[in-house]
Amino acid sequence: FMPPSVAGGSNCVTARDKKGIEVDAKKYLEEKPEGDRSLVEGLKGDATYLIVKDDKTFQSYGLNAICTHLGCVVPWSEANNKFICPCHGSQYDEEGSVVRGPAPLPLALAHVDVQDNKVRLGLWSEVDFRTGEPGWWN
Ligand code: FES
Repeated sequence: FMPPSVAGGSNCVTARDKKGIEVDAKKYLEEKPEGDRSLVEGLKGDATYLIVKDDKTFQSYGLNAICTHLGCVVPWSEANNKFICPCHGSQYDEEGSVVRGPAPLPLALAHVDVQDNKVRLGLWSEVDFRTGEPGWWN
């Protein structure tokens, strides 16, 4: 079964680590703690956060790490349970919604799906569940 949103084509890529190696899904989930948010290389080469859920599976969405203000990569601050941009102080909650500006928009979403032990990232073309509006990135 393949959800239509990630059914191949250029709207879908295999997540890679910093070294450019395809992420091994099983190993990744074994190594990362629950609630982990770590970066992989995703769609268009953009740094994207994979989220490990409490049941040690991947959250069905990943978050593009590019700040919607001026494009810095936004680190996850586990201590604050937020993404905090080092450039101008924007903050995003654990789902990527803006909790403090100047960022105008939430972090972009990507579909996350495991196929053959590879992590596939796909274009999120549906409504943004955080805003109820179409994704601003489409
Ligand atoms: Fe992130 Fe300005 S680039 S707050």
